[in-house]
Amino acid sequence: VDPGPAWAARVRELADQRDAVILAHNYQLPAIQDVAHHVGDSLALSRIATTVEQSTIVFCGVHFMAETAKILSPQKRVLIPDARAGCSLADSLTAEQLAGWKAQYPDAVVVSYVNTTAAVKALTDICCTSSNAVEVVASIPADRTVLFGPDQFLGAHVRRVLDRKNMHVWGGECHVHAGINGATLAARAAEFPDAQLFIHPECGCSTSAVYLAGTGALDPKRVEFLSTGQMVDEATRGQAAGVKTVLVATEIGMIHQLRRAAPSIDFRAVNDRASCSYMKMITPAKLLTSLEELRDEVIVPVDVAAKARASVERMIAIGQ
Ligand code: 13P
Ligand code: SF4
Repeated sequence: VDPGPAWAARVRELADQRDAVILAHNYQLPAIQDVAHHVGDSLALSRIATTVEQSTIVFCGVHFMAETAKILSPQKRVLIPDARAGCSLADSLTAEQLAGWKAQYPDAVVVSYVNTTAAVKALTDICCTSSNAVEVVASIPADRTVLFGPDQFLGAHVRRVLDRKNMHVWGGECHVHAGINGATLAARAAEFPDAQLFIHPECGCSTSAVYLAGTGALDPKRVEFLSTGQMVDEATRGQAAGVKTVLVATEIGMIHQLRRAAPSIDFRAVNDRASCSYMKMITPAKLLTSLEELRDEVIVPVDVAAKARASVERMIAIGQ
């Protein structure tokens, strides 16, 4: 439901009064993406969080993202409109589990996806997101063992691209992306034989797509593995090149930003039930309350934040 122009005007007015900047992830509800000052993928939003001038950041996304903004900008007030907006992937690797895993491989370099709690980041050598995971692992000397967590599909993608044998991958997954599986992808690809395929590497089908391409069931030229931010860039390029249809394998909130970027392309979800209920906990009404009442404030213990910051800053430095 569109909350309307009066809501949007009130949100921007309150943001000005509170000296707040509103950041929104690509999976947020369309109205929230449209009212935000910045929309992007996890890496872009982490970078923006370090450069904004406002004293308050209102993070419309899930909890680990708001926590990452707080870790990077401890002097700022960071708010999330509903602190209960979690992430099943972040829940699949606890700090205790990571400590136990590290004890088995004391000389390994630990790479963690940003979809993790601050406590897990504090035990991590270098973080990554879906847009830089390959570069981050490639930056680690070839003779060093890598522990990669928590996402098994992203880990398998990185290992395949780099052909890296000394890389152990944790068995976690995001329930939304795991549900976008190979069978669904194959059926949709057969239905739209001329469509390009944008596949988020967290998807269950990211491994199957390589297999299907290998068997000839899928033309490898149709398949692109992209983070959500890279999908937006690729959509713009595709529109200029005359691409007509794109099948999108990720959370369905993404389609809104893609249509804005490339209105002449017909974007269709590979699985149109792939909606993240955590992302959708951030509603227009809660965003307004967040600005009115300055809640929910994100707090990260100072010692945890200091250790976690080092791993996130190492990631941000890559590619700059
Ligand atoms: P990116 O925005 O980095 O592609 O991550 C997707 C995701 O699942 C975040 O929860
Ligand atoms: Fe977490 Fe998956 Fe939701 Fe992203 S889509 S926030 S990985 S549960």
